[in-house]
Amino acid sequence: MSEVVVQTLHAAKSYTRGRLSIAALSGINLEIRKGETVAIVGPSGSGKTSLLNLIGGLDTPTGGKVIVEGTDLSELSDDQLSRYRLRKVGFIFQFYNLMRTLTAIENVEFPMSLAKVPKKEQRDRATELLRAVGLQLRANHMPDEMSGGEQQRVAVARALANNPSILLGDEPTGDLDSKSAKALMDLLRSLRKDRQMTLIFVTHDPLVVARCDRVYAVRDGKITKEFTKKDIESAKLSEKYDNTMLEGIY
Ligand SMILES: Nc1ncnc2c1ncn2[C@@H]1O[C@H](COP(=O)(O)OP(=O)(O)OP(=O)(O)O)[C@@H](O)[C@H]1O
Ligand SMILES: [Mg+2]
Repeated sequence: MSEVVVQTLHAAKSYTRGRLSIAALSGINLEIRKGETVAIVGPSGSGKTSLLNLIGGLDTPTGGKVIVEGTDLSELSDDQLSRYRLRKVGFIFQFYNLMRTLTAIENVEFPMSLAKVPKKEQRDRATELLRAVGLQLRANHMPDEMSGGEQQRVAVARALANNPSILLGDEPTGDLDSKSAKALMDLLRSLRKDRQMTLIFVTHDPLVVARCDRVYAVRDGKITKEFTKKDIESAKLSEKYDNTMLEGIY
């Protein structure tokens, strides 16, 4: 078995709104190993994005621990945590979040400039990444001149800019048609193989779930079920798969 990359121990997250405290997550225990592709599924408001944000160091738990590659994220200083976000993890968001005033290649270079990568290397790596996602001919296009699927692939190239070991996606196929969604998942799985990455996706999309090694189902801020590759495959074989598999999971 490969090493554990992400571990949470009784992780909890409460948000305070005025005098009201909302428990978005509680008692979250999970373990994700190097090279795994894991889906987090669950109804709206169940805490999926909150969980991804804790793993990505975008937010800090209000209880318990989030441990990545043996480091307890709560022990990092602010500087160390920004370094972690910039270099260890890559984020793909549902609506790409590309900068509209930058070209495709400039969007990919942006995280490298934050990481103070020399200019020439930024250009070389961004060119290579755009080639990897099949967009070498779109390098100088603005986001508005590209299709949704193309923009999402730029976002993937950007997420990979600083060679992260963990790639996090919040509904990465949420805005794509099924053909582009399939192509994106195939791309991510092949990049994962080449780069030994761990992939963690929040998703509602059966296409994404079908391509994962394991699934955590979250409900009301808790992990209620865990599904193995075998469970996923047997659900896939059933003819009801597309329509009801996720309902089954919930
Ligand atoms: N910044 C915030 N301040 C206050 N409450 C929040 C905040 N972010 C999330 N919440 C609350 O925490 C709970 C979990 O939210 P979260 O965004 O993690 O859900 P989700 O599973 O990602 O939902 P969706 O599928 O709709 O994206 C919800 O009740 C939400 O209203
Ligand atoms: Mg969400």
